[in-house]
Amino acid sequence: MEPDYWLGRWHRGETGWHLDAVNRHLSTFWPGLEVPVGTQVLVPLCGKTLDLLWLAGQGYRVLGVELSRLAIDAFFVDNGLTPTVTDDAGLRRYRVDELEILCGDVFALSAAQVAGVGAVYDRAALIALPPALRERYATHLNALLPAGVPRLLITLDYDQAMISGPPFSVSNAEVERLFGETHRITALAAFDALPESPGMRQRGLTELTERVYRIDPA
Ligand SMILES: C[S@@+](CC[C@H](N)C(=O)[O-])C[C@H]1O[C@@H](n2cnc3c(N)ncnc32)[C@H](O)[C@@H]1O
Repeated sequence: MEPDYWLGRWHRGETGWHLDAVNRHLSTFWPGLEVPVGTQVLVPLCGKTLDLLWLAGQGYRVLGVELSRLAIDAFFVDNGLTPTVTDDAGLRRYRVDELEILCGDVFALSAAQVAGVGAVYDRAALIALPPALRERYATHLNALLPAGVPRLLITLDYDQAMISGPPFSVSNAEVERLFGETHRITALAAFDALPESPGMRQRGLTELTERVYRIDPA
């Protein structure tokens, strides 16, 4: 997916993935990771998710990364927050207290920009990317992030032959392939996501599984 694809979606208001509430899998499964309060949590491809606020409310420092300036502006306006905006090595950094969002391409992130990160929350980031970019995304973050960083990963799994992404299908086997060599993968839960995904049903899907993983460095 080229950046213009996502910028266009935000421009046209085609943001069907956005939830008007905190993701229930985050509030259910995050506590089990036992990430110490005060840790900086990276939220790649964050859109304008309310999950950023939930994490901040739990006492974490939060670092979102998002391509679309419209999304970031909407996040702060919708939540009545006024960020300070500074330049950070070519990316724009928006900040309110301990909540920051870097505006730019996740692939342009440098190790210095994520040097303080101690955990990752990925919902609809990996599955937003087509196969070649997923590989690049996993390799990039693995190389960039400090050692010992746990992740909560939420994916969708369906028959990719029936419809094209995004969201793309990511199977258990692919999660194993992307992270298995360097990480311990724990499948925490799987849910039938079809009832709450009318758009995917309309596109012809008859099975759609949402999966939640905990991924720890081996
Ligand atoms: C499917 S949405 C998910 C947003 C958010 N994680 C959520 O749960 O609402 C994917 C987001 O990733 C952003 N995005 C796509 N490619 C990106 C990239 N290379 N770097 C940074 N953000 C990107 C898009 O603009 C979009 O907001």
